[in-house]
This record gives sequence, C-alpha cells and structure tokens, in this order.
Amino acid sequence: MERIIFILKIFPLAGLLVLASCNPQSVNEENPEPEPFSPTPYEFPDIPYFPKNFNIPDDNPMTVEGVELGRYLFYDGRISGNTDKDMLMSCSTCHIQAHGFEVGINHPKFKGGKTFGLPTPEYPEGKPTPNFMMPLVNTVYNHNGYLWNGFVNESNDALGNPHYGVPAREPYNYKNIESLVWMAITAPHEMNSTVDRAVAAIAAVPMYREKFKAAFGTEEVTFERISKAIAQFVRSIISYNSKFHKYLRHEAQLTEQEQRGYDLFFSEDADCFHCHGGSVLMTTNEFFNNAKDSVFDPDEHDRHWVTGDPMDIGAYRAPSLLNIELTAPYMHDGRFKNLDEVIDFYSGGLVYSDYVHPLMKNVRQKGVQLSDEDKMALKSFLFTLTDYELINDPAYSCPPELKEWSGQVNY
Ligand code: HEC
Ligand code: HEC
Repeated sequence: MERIIFILKIFPLAGLLVLASCNPQSVNEENPEPEPFSPTPYEFPDIPYFPKNFNIPDDNPMTVEGVELGRYLFYDGRISGNTDKDMLMSCSTCHIQAHGFEVGINHPKFKGGKTFGLPTPEYPEGKPTPNFMMPLVNTVYNHNGYLWNGFVNESNDALGNPHYGVPAREPYNYKNIESLVWMAITAPHEMNSTVDRAVAAIAAVPMYREKFKAAFGTEEVTFERISKAIAQFVRSIISYNSKFHKYLRHEAQLTEQEQRGYDLFFSEDADCFHCHGGSVLMTTNEFFNNAKDSVFDPDEHDRHWVTGDPMDIGAYRAPSLLNIELTAPYMHDGRFKNLDEVIDFYSGGLVYSDYVHPLMKNVRQKGVQLSDEDKMALKSFLFTLTDYELINDPAYSCPPELKEWSGQVNY
C-alpha cells in the first residue's frame, strides 16, 4: 500500500491504473467477468376474457425465480421466527391451497373457520384475526384495495397510523401485497414475529442462499426481499380453470340445472351479477352494504372505517365467488355456515337500513324470493366455480422439503 501511495504522489494517473488493477471486480484471467444477473421474466398465461391490467408495483417485477423463492417462503413456518415445530406458522397455515387459499370450516385448529395468531402469554389461545378469511386467488387483477375493507391500496398514505396494531413500514406503507406480507409476519393476531426474527430465521437456512441469489442477484436475506418474493408468489396464484371458465371457453357444457342457476345469477331474477359478476373474476371488487344488519358498531372495520363516508357504513368488498364451495364459512364475520344459508339470506333474509346499497333492489321484499328449485339451481351453478386444477397445481403447492416446517395441520 505504501508503494501505491508513493506512486500516487508522483504519477497520479499511473496510480489510478495500479488501483484499478487491484480492484477485485476488474476483468482478468483469474477473475472472469461476473455472470450478469438476469432472472427470467414471469409470463402470465394468455387467458381469454381475463383482464390484462395487472397490479404489480414497478419496483417488484415478477420473475420465475422470484415466484419460486416466494413459494418456499409462503410455506416456511420458520418465517414466524420459531423453530419449535409446534409453534410454526406460515402463510399456508391459514391460506390453504385445498380450500382455495382460505382455511375452511373444518380445520381442527381453527374451528368454524375463525383464525388465530400464534399463542403469547397475553393470548394463550392466540389472538383472533379481526375478520374471517379471504381467498388468495386472482389478487393480481385487483386495483381497488386488499382486505375486506380495501384498507391496503395503492393510494394509501396512512403512514404512522397504527391500524391493525402494526405501525406502517416504508417503503410499502399499506399499499400493496408486499405490505400485507409484513403485516402477516408481525401482527399479533397472525405470526406475531418481528422483522429481525423473520430475517434471522430465513438467513439461517442454507438452502435459501442460492434462491435469493437467483431471485435478487444476492444471497443476502432482507425483509424487503422476503416481502417482494412472497408478494410475487401470491400474485402468481390465478384461478381460471373452473367448469364455469371452461364453459365460457366452449371447453365444457353446463347441465340443465347449472344453466338455470347461471341464468338466475346473471339476470335480475337472483340478481347477483351486479356485485359479483361483470367479469370472469366473479367479482367487481367494489364495496357494498349487502343488507345483513340494521345496527352497526362504530368500531367495525368496515369500508366506512377506511373512507369516513357514512354511505360506506356496513359495506365490505364483494369477494370473488370462485372456489366458493371450498371457503365456508361466509361473509367477513363468517355468519353463514354453508351456501344454503347464504342463498336463503339473499332470497328472503335481507334487513333494511339507511346504508343498504341501492343495488340490493329487493331489500323491501326481504330478497329476490327464489323457489326451492331455483335455490338448488343457483347452488349448483356456484359449484361450477370450483377450480380443481388450481387446488391440485404443484406450482402452488408446498415444496416437499418444507412439509415438516410449513406449520400446516393435516386433516
Ligand atoms: C392467522 C391466519 C393468517 C395467516 C398466518 C396469514 N393470513 Fe392472510 N389473511 C388472513 C385473514 C383473516 C385475512 C382477511 C383479513 C381482513 O380483511 O380482515 C387475510 C387476508 C390476506 C390478504 C388479502 C386478500 C385480498 O383479496 O384482499 C392477503 C394478500 C394475504 N392475507 C396474504 C397473506 C400472506 C402473504 C401471508 C403470509 C406472509 C398471510 N396472509 C398469512 C389470515 C391469515
Ligand atoms: C349489492 C351487492 C351484492 C349483491 C346484489 C349480491 N352480493 Fe353477495 N356479497 C356482497 C358483499 C359486499 C359481500 C361481502 C359482505 C360481507 O362480508 O359482509 C358478499 C358476500 C357473498 C358471499 C360470501 C363470500 C365469502 O367469501 O364469504 C356469497 C357466497 C355471496 N355473496 C353470494 C351472492 C349471491 C348468490 C348473490 C345473488 C343471489 C349475491 N351474492 C348478491 C355483495 C352483493
């Protein structure tokens, strides 16, 4: 080094050359040029009638390697910062592929479909999640905000607002799925971990080095990269192979009863399409008060809680009805145990209040008043929305080496 400084003093330019040749990055025979980092762009299948405007933030483009890393992290319960196998929780503990990425009603741990976070001294049974579950399919097409009330959305600037018991975190600040990953990992009613514990737990697993390198060009595990990879995987989950979709593509026939249900659904007769129709996603992703109650709790996490608009009191996002057969119980508060109860509600159980959405046109008659036969037909149509390819697709399933770490319960 002394020599270099000496040369620098006398011949500044020559010194630069000497320094350049000391640079480990420079190209010579022992150090061939490092492989350029070029992950493979992820292509969504080109599906007839599906929207093309994806909700993907500019700073997290989807890549094959990113989605694959995200799948591993989605199924890895060590992300909860625990190594005790009885204390593991991953995204897949609650978002289960066989249930259209909800938990289902018969889960032995989450009885009745109500989910709880990991136990703590304060909550020995685990803190309950504020609402019942939402499916994780076709989220990439939603531009109206995530969660039942749309709180996590692109135009959110709730920085510092301690909603859901977790303070906002740059850079995502409740704007997109990246932020939901962090919320799920740190929320007391979910994995109840911390950013540092999650990063340390994942960095301690040697298998991830190569996967982070492939996805992000570096082995270094950071929380931002964890969020980005899981968000990429979640966006890759798309449901487009139900019998209903195949029927639209002329690849399958509906039975007479299913056809009757289809006609009821997409006409004023049962009048479901205004809110749940409109596209092959089987949702408008808009918010409505669908006439379930006449009294509202001011602390309810409804749409009004987000917008402050009194017209949004008691309103929630109309969820997609794809895979609805697998995702009981129903509504944000899980009040209906099965589809018969849901259909009976829309047929004759509507309750008037000043906040009911105008599209609930038959609220004064308590509902659309369907015959028993029509109810059966409507239900059989709802069954055509189940996508068996999605729930069996290995691209979305638990990597075999993570089975024991996934925090899933077999049932
Ligand atoms: C303890 C159970 C539980 C765990 C674990 C969990 N979630 Fe969820 N998730 C929920 C519930 C409940 C909701 C609905 C919350 C609401 O709107 O109030 C939800 C909603 C979501 C949504 C919003 C979907 C939409 O269409 O708006 C996304 C995205 C999501 N979760 C992703 C994840 C990811 C990624 C993980 C892992 C990092 C995860 N969740 C872990 C219970 C869980
Ligand atoms: C005015 C809009 C509107 C109309 C019309 C409507 N819904 Fe809904 N639907 C909603 C909203 C909003 C929710 C979520 C409400 C909540 O969770 O509190 C919902 C929830 C549901 C759910 C539960 C979804 C889940 O994942 O828990 C089912 C099933 C359903 N609706 C079926 C139907 C059927 C069948 C019809 C026609 C008979 C219909 N809806 C008509 C707005 C509507």
